[in-house]
Amino acid sequence: MFEAVEGKLREVKVFTRPTSDGRSTVSFRTFIVEMPYHSPSDLDVGKLMAAKTMSGDYLILEVVDYLPVHYAMLGMDGSVPIELRSELMRRIEESWAKGESREAWIDVYAYPVGYLLRVSRDGSVSFSKGYSPPLMGSAVYVLDSGLFERFACSSSGQSIGKIMGYNVNMKVDLFSMAKYHTGIFAFTGSGKSNLISTLVRRIVNLKEEVKVVVIDVSLEYAVLLLDVLLTQDSRLALTERLPPSKQDAAKKMFRSHVIPEDLSDLSDSIYKGFSKLVEGKAKHLYVPASSGQLIMTYAHLLDMIRSQIEDKYTATAQKPLFFAMLQKLDEFMRRNNLSGEDPLGEEVNGVLDEVESQAREARLRENMSIFSFLSSIRSYLGNSPAETSEYDLEKLALEIADPKGPKVFVVETPSVEIGRTVAGTLIERIFDIRKRAYSVKPSILFILDEAQEFIPYDTKQRDNSEFSSQAVEKLLRHGRKYHMHGLISTQRLAYLNTNVLQQIHTYFISTLPRPYDRQLVAETFSISDSLLDRTLDLETGQWLLISFKAATPNEVPVFFNAENNLTELRSSLREILQVRSDPH
Ligand SMILES: Nc1ncnc2c1ncn2[C@@H]1O[C@H](COP(=O)(O)OP(=O)(O)O)[C@@H](O)[C@H]1O
Ligand SMILES: [Mg+2]
Repeated sequence: MFEAVEGKLREVKVFTRPTSDGRSTVSFRTFIVEMPYHSPSDLDVGKLMAAKTMSGDYLILEVVDYLPVHYAMLGMDGSVPIELRSELMRRIEESWAKGESREAWIDVYAYPVGYLLRVSRDGSVSFSKGYSPPLMGSAVYVLDSGLFERFACSSSGQSIGKIMGYNVNMKVDLFSMAKYHTGIFAFTGSGKSNLISTLVRRIVNLKEEVKVVVIDVSLEYAVLLLDVLLTQDSRLALTERLPPSKQDAAKKMFRSHVIPEDLSDLSDSIYKGFSKLVEGKAKHLYVPASSGQLIMTYAHLLDMIRSQIEDKYTATAQKPLFFAMLQKLDEFMRRNNLSGEDPLGEEVNGVLDEVESQAREARLRENMSIFSFLSSIRSYLGNSPAETSEYDLEKLALEIADPKGPKVFVVETPSVEIGRTVAGTLIERIFDIRKRAYSVKPSILFILDEAQEFIPYDTKQRDNSEFSSQAVEKLLRHGRKYHMHGLISTQRLAYLNTNVLQQIHTYFISTLPRPYDRQLVAETFSISDSLLDRTLDLETGQWLLISFKAATPNEVPVFFNAENNLTELRSSLREILQVRSDPH
């Protein structure tokens, strides 16, 4: 249960600072635990400790920092005469080198993660949310890897890496993670795209059916997920046109994608992989130049009727009929669960017929505007947009929503503006489809890498960011009812519309160089600033994972080393192309 080493709880300190928006203050409590100097060197940031409390339970503390201390250093500052100072420090240095000193110890800084550990008389252990004041001066233990795993990992989850400081797999419940939305936040080069690819790999293999839609404005995922695209029922939709000849198409794809340096020896396989994709899975996606409203909704119709009523040129005799039409529509919409945003369709014809026969019964003259109004709505309904053979956003949305359609989608475009149109239209359209659909399965996970482009802090109508931002916000706020979920990734939280952060239950954090970004995360999750400051020391592929009742069973921040996507891609490509390589 615990490691052999034992510490003592010596002090508690409270740090207070202004919140990142400057409007109030936050406080963090830090406990200082004294450990013997010769304690195992694997005392590490992120390890968990248990301190005896008044209630008899243990309070769980997470290590955020530690520092060796020598007694002789305590009163040391510039006022000590220099010769004495040098002599003292020389002796202290010697004692460190010996590796053991009765005058030295380690100060371990730790903060309470909000859980208590109870050990029953029969030895069984359980964790519960809560706080009880720890007893100063009493023993503090370090959780061993077995207990840590029980507390911090999902027992039935998928492994996405190794926990730092413990030889334990980072197991997370990816289905639950996807359901409650996910954020990946780290400086460029920290490994966001790599982690996204690893997560996608695991998610498509879950027993629960989850469709994945990656919106890719950096043209990375066709390579990072090449083996997944080849082996799964997939679709690669490209807004750039491909030449008609398959060979030229493969060549063009090869030229337009950057092959990661670590894979440069695999460029032949990647070319082969692309050649297979252009045989059917890769399609050119037609995106209209304007993302503006092309369709009429119920809200539009209601507005038009109201303006008929208010219009002073509308003959008074027919105004009551316009009111009746409003009432009928209202009733019709309630009955069919329609909202103003829903597009107007043939189903409304019944209401139009009723109003028309009412108008005739009232003996309104044939040239009254109500008749032309009704017939113009009918002509709109009869004139549905021309069917084209082109693969467009509508067809893509239908494929995504179709339970029998492909499972993995990578939609790539070199243009951020087009990317916004694509993301916004797909999300809105699939909301529409699901609102009407009998079933809202399977789950659909939308992945937006470079999310600051889709939900920027400052939105503009001109560059479509207002459109995409509204759609993504809607996805994160209301998507869960319809089994539509989001994963967003960005390098700077400050550039993001931070309204959405409250909707995200699972965060992966790596190096965030700006204090503002770290403070925002610390406040959102009420975890210590000093723990987040530790993310500055993380290397590429190392992450701090924090999840609220989603990926992990308890809300405890865990540091881990993520699996390298390129390693899995490499071995899987070798396997696929070996098995399927042509005999000639
Ligand atoms: N878990 C990992 N293990 C090993 N290398 C990694 C890992 N994650 C990322 N890398 C490497 O680091 C580099 C940057 O990763 P990338 O995912 O492109 O970062 P970002 O998307 O944050 O800019 C790439 O060369 C990538 O292969
Ligand atoms: Mg990236």
